[in-house]
Amino acid sequence: MRRVSASVASPRETKTRTARRLDPTPPPAPAPPRHTPTATPTWPCSSNMSGWRGRRSCGMGQLMLGRQMRNLAETLLRDIIRGSPDVKWESIKGLENAKRLLKEAVVMPIKYPKYFTGLLSPWKGILLFGPPGTGKTMLAKAVATECETTFFNISASSIVSKWRGDSEKLVKVLFELARHHAPSTIFLDEIDAIISQRGEARSEHEASRRLKTELLIQMDGLTKTDELVFVLAATNLPWELDAAMLRRLEKRILVPLPEIEARHAMFEELLPSIPGTMEIPYDVLVEKTEGYSGSDIRLVCKEAAMQPLRRLMAVLEGRQEEVPEDELPEVGPITREDIELALRNTRPSAHLHVHRYKKFNEDYGSHVLS
Ligand SMILES: Nc1ncnc2c1ncn2[C@@H]1O[C@H](COP(=O)(O)OP(=O)(O)OP(=O)(O)O)[C@@H](O)[C@H]1O
Ligand SMILES: [Mg+2]
Repeated sequence: MRRVSASVASPRETKTRTARRLDPTPPPAPAPPRHTPTATPTWPCSSNMSGWRGRRSCGMGQLMLGRQMRNLAETLLRDIIRGSPDVKWESIKGLENAKRLLKEAVVMPIKYPKYFTGLLSPWKGILLFGPPGTGKTMLAKAVATECETTFFNISASSIVSKWRGDSEKLVKVLFELARHHAPSTIFLDEIDAIISQRGEARSEHEASRRLKTELLIQMDGLTKTDELVFVLAATNLPWELDAAMLRRLEKRILVPLPEIEARHAMFEELLPSIPGTMEIPYDVLVEKTEGYSGSDIRLVCKEAAMQPLRRLMAVLEGRQEEVPEDELPEVGPITREDIELALRNTRPSAHLHVHRYKKFNEDYGSHVLS
């Protein structure tokens, strides 16, 4: 799956940016984007404007934008997901409360807008918060899959621009595009990084403040209209968000570490029992992974599954000549020792601040009322 809005710049990109920053001349207009083949599957990126034009679900259509704004809009269009990210609710284990709250807040209002008017108008800002690797991004992708709305997948690199003023314009264009393509969901992944970018130079500080202000203004605008545009934000540092932002992210949903049943389901899916081989000791795995996140559990399973492959590699390396592909032996089964080794080698990475998330949830979180 190709994710367009990767937040890490390549060394070459960073170098170019640094060089440009020293150059006092105004920034050049963004280079015309290269055409990317549209055969890319789920999170594709096509920035060929002629390709976008006229396509209601992806282009700028009749949206009237100036030349500069149009360039900015092009940048953002690269971050729209076309097609579905293909994450089903069932593939997210546990998190029943979070799923239920998300369905109530986003999925149902989009499917049945008739009921969500007046006092019951849908929540426009939703925050998913919790320890790293617990499925926040997966939940957002599931919303995109389920709702089939225009989905803007935005990370810090999409809207934090080095150029003074560009970031706030990008935010403006982003919301304009979202309204134009409504119903749409703007997913602000790692929102803490988007709004708390602090540079050393005063100007950067100032620019980040203006970006944040523009975001707050635009989010305010959403609550005053009936258009179906949702802001879905995710963070693992919810306490870094200030009161103004929290007020606009009205629905705050905790995505906690996986409980016993969720861990069991994850192990069953990732390490299925194969008839005729050792029964996988799920109970031991579940018991010993208290405090592990979903992504830690994935690592445990990968580590356990690597062991038989390592044994096979050792055998293959001992052979003189390369074995042809159709004569390659099968990978052996996972043993109890492999599982014990995997558990010893993979430590939980996200359990230290659990109490902090709980406290934040008690103070600011939304709960399922039954
Ligand atoms: N509840 C879950 N069910 C199934 N897999 C999960 C679950 N939670 C986490 N995972 C696994 O962990 C990986 C990381 O999940 P994801 O990217 O959604 O975490 P995140 O909460 O967004 O983390 P971060 O805060 O670091 O961005 C997933 O690709 C998946 O393999
Ligand atoms: Mg994430």
